[in-house]
Amino acid sequence: MSHLFPTYTRFPFEIVKGIGAHLFDEQGNEYLDLTSGIGVCGLGYNVKALNDAVEHQLHQVWHTSNLYESSLQESVAAQLGVHQDMLVSFANSGTEANEAALKLARKATGRLDFLAFDHSFHGRSAGSLTVTGNEGIKEGFLPLVPGARFAKYNDFAAIDEIKPDLAGVILEVVQGEGGVIAGDAKWLKTVQDKCHEVGALLLIDEVQTGMGRTGSLFAFEQFGLDPDIYTVAKGLANGIPVGAMIGKKELGQYFGPGSHGSTFAGNPLAMAAAQQVLKTLNQEFLSTVQQKAVAMHQAMEKELLPMDMVDSISGLGLMIGIHLNQAVSVGQVLAQLHSQHVLALSARDNTLRLLPPLITSQDELLAGVDEIKKALNTVESATATA
Ligand SMILES: Cc1ncc(COP(=O)(O)O)c(C=O)c1O
Repeated sequence: MSHLFPTYTRFPFEIVKGIGAHLFDEQGNEYLDLTSGIGVCGLGYNVKALNDAVEHQLHQVWHTSNLYESSLQESVAAQLGVHQDMLVSFANSGTEANEAALKLARKATGRLDFLAFDHSFHGRSAGSLTVTGNEGIKEGFLPLVPGARFAKYNDFAAIDEIKPDLAGVILEVVQGEGGVIAGDAKWLKTVQDKCHEVGALLLIDEVQTGMGRTGSLFAFEQFGLDPDIYTVAKGLANGIPVGAMIGKKELGQYFGPGSHGSTFAGNPLAMAAAQQVLKTLNQEFLSTVQQKAVAMHQAMEKELLPMDMVDSISGLGLMIGIHLNQAVSVGQVLAQLHSQHVLALSARDNTLRLLPPLITSQDELLAGVDEIKKALNTVESATATA
């Protein structure tokens, strides 16, 4: 009997080791990883520079409270701001970073309400779940926090919902859990303009899209957006739990001493890893991610898009959605991929989701596309003969 609450349906094998973009289970089977956890280990597994950075810190001090100066936090924070003078509040997860963003937006504007979008995902704490556009995962937990309204993502009619009573509008530039749906550039810009017009803050959740996933450090940079607040987590320390809320300097006055905090936030081990991650994600590295992503998208369009069971392919950079129709179920495809020793993910609406480590070589990414083609064919013939 498992002693864990059954909040996850787990696959029947355990990952016990990783090297680069490859993972190994307890029986020694090797897998090509197209998941990075769920978009976490962007730099892959067992990375010497990261191991060294964390090990060095391990022998210095594991934990200090936030009552003392932290040059590590300062260094990571300075690199997370897209403008020189932005401020950072560290957290331990994406959920917590979003929770901080919602609190700060309320306090700074003196307003209560938020506009969020259908099929968004921002976390599972009361506040972050409130602005998550998935009614199913709220079941049994209502009422949550008052003040959230929802509109359709990428819909220009949603702009009219951005009114002067809003503390903020929260969105993902590419909806991840919601099915890897990229925001329309013009729509995103119009949302930002309307926020400015009515004095609502623009909160961008970069928890899944951030840290190089889409080919830039933050996805919003590719859309020319300038959020008041943005949040990151997942890839920030390549798997050591951490989150961060980054906001414009003028918001600092609303998050004074005692207004927010967390015992573990900005933990030295996480900061040592984050510092090394940020050092690695330089322009040259990000350009390579973009090039590999272009090659992979081209291969998918050539090999997968013409297949009967593939409706469309979406995403940005190495955040990819392969939208399957009813001819196959994504669950079956994942199981087939496992038997071919490839790990992938699913998202809403029968979507096969890929979030490969950013360090995966182009050859490995293309091999992944071939494996997916093989898996889709195998599942389709099995379904047809069943
Ligand atoms: C866009 C987005 N926001 C927030 C979260 C929640 O992050 P965490 O699981 O680290 O709390 C996730 C997790 O998948 C996410 O994809």
